[in-house]
Amino acid sequence: MESEWDALRVLGAVTALFLLLWATWVVGSTVYVYLLPQVRRSNYWLRAHGAWAVVTGATSGIGKAYAHELARRGLNVVLISRDLSKLKHEAKEIERLYGKSTRVIQVDFTGGLEIYETIEAGLKDLEIGVLVNNVGQKYAPHLCKLLDCEDIAKKLQDIINCNMMSVAQMTRILLPRMVSRGKGIIINISSLADRKPYPYLAVYAATKAFVRSFSVAVDTEYRSKGVIVQTVSPSLVETNMTYPLKKGLLMVSAEDFARQALDTLGLTSETPGCLRHAVQDFLLTMLLPSWFFFSTWGYPLLERCNVVGFFSERT
Ligand SMILES: NC(=O)c1ccc[n+]([C@@H]2O[C@H](COP(=O)([O-])OP(=O)(O)OC[C@H]3O[C@@H](n4cnc5c(N)ncnc54)[C@H](OP(=O)(O)O)[C@@H]3O)[C@@H](O)[C@H]2O)c1
Repeated sequence: MESEWDALRVLGAVTALFLLLWATWVVGSTVYVYLLPQVRRSNYWLRAHGAWAVVTGATSGIGKAYAHELARRGLNVVLISRDLSKLKHEAKEIERLYGKSTRVIQVDFTGGLEIYETIEAGLKDLEIGVLVNNVGQKYAPHLCKLLDCEDIAKKLQDIINCNMMSVAQMTRILLPRMVSRGKGIIINISSLADRKPYPYLAVYAATKAFVRSFSVAVDTEYRSKGVIVQTVSPSLVETNMTYPLKKGLLMVSAEDFARQALDTLGLTSETPGCLRHAVQDFLLTMLLPSWFFFSTWGYPLLERCNVVGFFSERT
């Protein structure tokens, strides 16, 4: 009996030590990645990778915020999107506000290989230090089951080209130039939905799982060549994509998000982007573990509690 109690005591002590070490690591890495950069922010390191940044989907939301923040930190910016008048407007704003040079490339990322010839030609003579693969779409304005989406055949092709093909092709175009210069940064905007399948967002979440998997693998392949590939997996950011959700505890503005996410560059290769999203990510993983989410009763229970309905009305 005595020896059984001793064994239990040892087990308890080991568990407590493990939890203490884990909590210290979580708090320490959170402070290091999200709080320290606020006091020791330096833009020299970012500019040293090259004079130009390229941002896809740069005319609104997170992409526009990244384009502005990169210019504010001293880089010239190439803006790529599908609407020429919005592109010219943003380019002018960046030149006016930060005195940096800009270039615009008009393409629709739902297109095929031909659009990448236009992009390659537009980027040919520039020293590009930073690529932000941001462009992305949902395939329905609300959460919905796969077969409930309108014009699903076309939407599937569009979302796969826009969310996945764009990331792989833009990387294919710019990575060789970064490798030959021995420096470069690629930022891939994924989503909190990249970690596990999301019913009612099936295709969108699957495209983001691709982005994350591709991004982490390419980072591992080319880190030793001086190229950093960062995966940014945000929760809710206040943009057209999340309209009409309002800024609240869960939501951050695109400007705050881009500023905080850029501060994490060089400190972590995978991040939710900002402290508030890191906390949400942590809580979601704890409160909605995969075994519950995908059990035969887990998701139906969430539906019955109208959790899905609550979010469908708001996304
Ligand atoms: N907002 C969030 O809460 C959230 C959360 C997780 C991940 N994300 C990801 O963050 C990225 C940006 O999202 P966002 O919320 O900033 O979206 P957004 O406000 O809708 O902005 C999307 C940008 O991409 C451009 N764009 C869209 N489709 C395009 C196409 N086919 N070809 C060329 N440009 C196109 C848009 O240009 P137009 O002006 O022409 O439409 C706009 O500049 C996406 O990859 C998204 O999946 C967002």
